[in-house]
Amino acid sequence: MNRDDFKLLQTGLIYFDNGATTLKPTLLSEALSDYYNFYSSNAHRGDYTISLKASNMYEKTRKLVKDFIGARSSKEIIFTSGATDSLNKIIFGYFRNHLKKGDEVLLTKSEHASNILPWFELADELGLIINYIPLNENHEVTTENVIKSITAKTKVISIAHVTNVVGDIRPIKEICAYAHKNNILVVVDGAQSVPHIKVDVEDLDIDFLAFSAHKMCGPTGVGILYGKEKLLKDTRPIIFGGGMNAEFSTDGRRFYKELPGLLEAGTPNVGDVIAFGYILEYLNNIGINNITNEEKKLRTYLIKRLKEIPQIKIYNEHSDSAIIAFNYLDIFPQDLAIYLDKYNICVRAGSHCAKMLKEELEIKNTCRISLYFYNTKEEIDYLIKVLQNPNIKNELF
Ligand code: ALA
Repeated sequence: MNRDDFKLLQTGLIYFDNGATTLKPTLLSEALSDYYNFYSSNAHRGDYTISLKASNMYEKTRKLVKDFIGARSSKEIIFTSGATDSLNKIIFGYFRNHLKKGDEVLLTKSEHASNILPWFELADELGLIINYIPLNENHEVTTENVIKSITAKTKVISIAHVTNVVGDIRPIKEICAYAHKNNILVVVDGAQSVPHIKVDVEDLDIDFLAFSAHKMCGPTGVGILYGKEKLLKDTRPIIFGGGMNAEFSTDGRRFYKELPGLLEAGTPNVGDVIAFGYILEYLNNIGINNITNEEKKLRTYLIKRLKEIPQIKIYNEHSDSAIIAFNYLDIFPQDLAIYLDKYNICVRAGSHCAKMLKEELEIKNTCRISLYFYNTKEEIDYLIKVLQNPNIKNELF
């Protein structure tokens, strides 16, 4: 789908590392070039035509994000520098002021570092207890296991919607429904879900959601923090400065702006946010459900073809997302990735920043293929041919 929009695909590159970041359609650099050449200016600070245009375009992206994830109000959308930044702003801006010693936070061992390390830091600071929801035999989270893990002290569940190695899609709607009945808030890391499947925050009843533009054809350096308005209103900024204040005086009195400006101190990433708006319109034209369906077909085909190679072990055959983790017998994953690169095939190898997952998978490193809508069955056929090379071991170095 839409392959002509991606210059790197025209070079013959086979790009299977979309979980790390996706390729960008030429539309992105055109939108950036237009901003930098024709209305490069700050947003929300200038009373002249190009700055007003930049401000309007910046706010237009906010509205597009709101509609993309089904939020109720644009005030619920905060631009950050990435999903990691969003999670830190939630954890240190909201939870630092709402949790106390002995409160329990529920995570899983397959979370990405960005949804673990800020919690470790806050736990040390406040004396929180961190517990892990057990994963089932397919390394997945079930609602049943979430329910079993909740205690009277559980105050927050913070989990990825789709994990970045096992690729399991978590039952977020059921988890939120049960959590809310027990006065527990749910933080969702949507970095690997929002680009691939329909995420409707109102329908799922998510309290906080974090994701990044660069994993959905957008620019690097733009993240989104969604929060229910009543929760965001109660979130303390962790960065203070220009843009977020309404007034301050020598005696230390200060008045801050309302949402969303309150949580966006400093000059924002104006050009990239504007360019992300063009990308959201591009993705809307393709349709998120078409993206999901295309990826499902590709995933099924990839699994079927990988299983033709006896040396390949797949770790997450039963997941539904576009992420496939595997190893090739006796070949170190990084060596396999370097071998594939010789054939112009990009995959990621390593622990993928999910460093506790080894306790579940009983293996530290894997190769990961993460698909997007522009991948094809022909690319998969070529990958299989390269993996079936009888000389593969001799070609490793
Ligand atoms: N979180 C990104 C990945 O899984 C970087 O590759």
